[in-house]
Amino acid sequence: MSSKKELRIGMVGYGFMGRTHSNAYRRVGNFFPELEYQPILKAICGRNQERTQAFADQWGYESIETDWKKLIARDDIDAVDICTPNNMHAEIAIAAAEAGKMVLCEKPLARTVAEAQPMVDAIEKAGVPNTVYFNYRRLPSVTLAKQLIDAGKLGRIFHYRANFLQDWTISPELPQGGEGLWRLDNAAAGSGVTGDLLAHCIDTAMWLNGGIKDVSAMTETFIKERVHTGTGEKQEVTIDDACMFHCHFDNGSLGLFESTRYARGHKALYTFEINGEHASIKWNLHDLNRLEYFDHRDESQERGWRSIHVTDSDHPYMDKWWVPGLSIGYEHSFVHQIADFLKALGEGKPCSPTFKEAQETQKVCEAVLESAKAKSWKDTGVNW
Ligand SMILES: NC(=O)c1ccc[n+]([C@@H]2O[C@H](COP(=O)([O-])OP(=O)(O)OC[C@H]3O[C@@H](n4cnc5c(N)ncnc54)[C@H](O)[C@@H]3O)[C@@H](O)[C@H]2O)c1
Repeated sequence: MSSKKELRIGMVGYGFMGRTHSNAYRRVGNFFPELEYQPILKAICGRNQERTQAFADQWGYESIETDWKKLIARDDIDAVDICTPNNMHAEIAIAAAEAGKMVLCEKPLARTVAEAQPMVDAIEKAGVPNTVYFNYRRLPSVTLAKQLIDAGKLGRIFHYRANFLQDWTISPELPQGGEGLWRLDNAAAGSGVTGDLLAHCIDTAMWLNGGIKDVSAMTETFIKERVHTGTGEKQEVTIDDACMFHCHFDNGSLGLFESTRYARGHKALYTFEINGEHASIKWNLHDLNRLEYFDHRDESQERGWRSIHVTDSDHPYMDKWWVPGLSIGYEHSFVHQIADFLKALGEGKPCSPTFKEAQETQKVCEAVLESAKAKSWKDTGVNW
């Protein structure tokens, strides 16, 4: 019999993220055997009984629910994992926290700062362990960037540049709303690329380079009307299809961010580059096992960009996987986030980013949207 403590998971939503999280819960104990807690896939919740049961059978959940309120009311659930569209995060998270459950929530925390605040309040009042899935932090190459910056390798930082480019909404025939397309419907998503994609870039940026003080942004909605799958009627599109903003960080460096779903040829190209006094770093999601590094202090004749293959056992998380030189993938960022959550739980510590930290990212997203609307600079009010 296992000596591990059980952490009984109740997950809501079995789409894209439901799969990545389920995979991570199943893998984590195999690769992080030292953890005190072992996740148990206790229940999966979806609205359609047949499809939810099929998911439970495929991924090994012990039971199903078709009403998330019933899931939260169960005594045999310790932690609620929220993998639903953005408009459902607040209600589920608040109810789960009030029921004394731990809460792991997908990003963005909510649609707006006002919607997120009672979530943070409920979590803090209940004092329950919590985390928000800004999972890119947990890729070994991105964690290595953090370690190099914290070790002072870059020196004073001048520039932070990030892009998140996609091309899947270019067709005007694509409807908005409903399964697979809720991201185009402002009522469900809260915003377009700003909350969906830039939220990731902002979280990584503040984690690596500190708080964002103020922003100046522009957004565009290229396709103004789309058929709504709910009504069958053409309706105005109110999400941002593209967003660019520049900003000041608290440390005096300048930031430049761009995201769009109209960059033909790019499927999910998240990149960042950081330029410091001594050194620079470049990173690219399509080559996620690598970190590019340039150090001006190298001998001039040998100086140049190094491409670090972040797969050695002394690289972050990599001692848990295969042998040096062998790559890992996107899904490992979720395994690492859950491993970090379980580790923090064992130690009685918070697992970053917490709801409170994710609310700071929400503030930047909101300031970006307000700035674009008002065509003026906005303070973010971030306290990082
Ligand atoms: N961390 C990341 O990199 C990342 C990537 C993709 C999505 N996300 C976030 O994850 C969340 C889910 O996105 P997704 O891509 O998995 O969406 P999805 O459309 O693939 O899945 C959403 C799921 O929620 C279910 N659902 C909706 N309303 C429900 C309700 N009332 N009760 C129970 N289930 C309900 C749907 O049936 C579906 O199974 C979003 O907040 C999104 O922003 C994060």
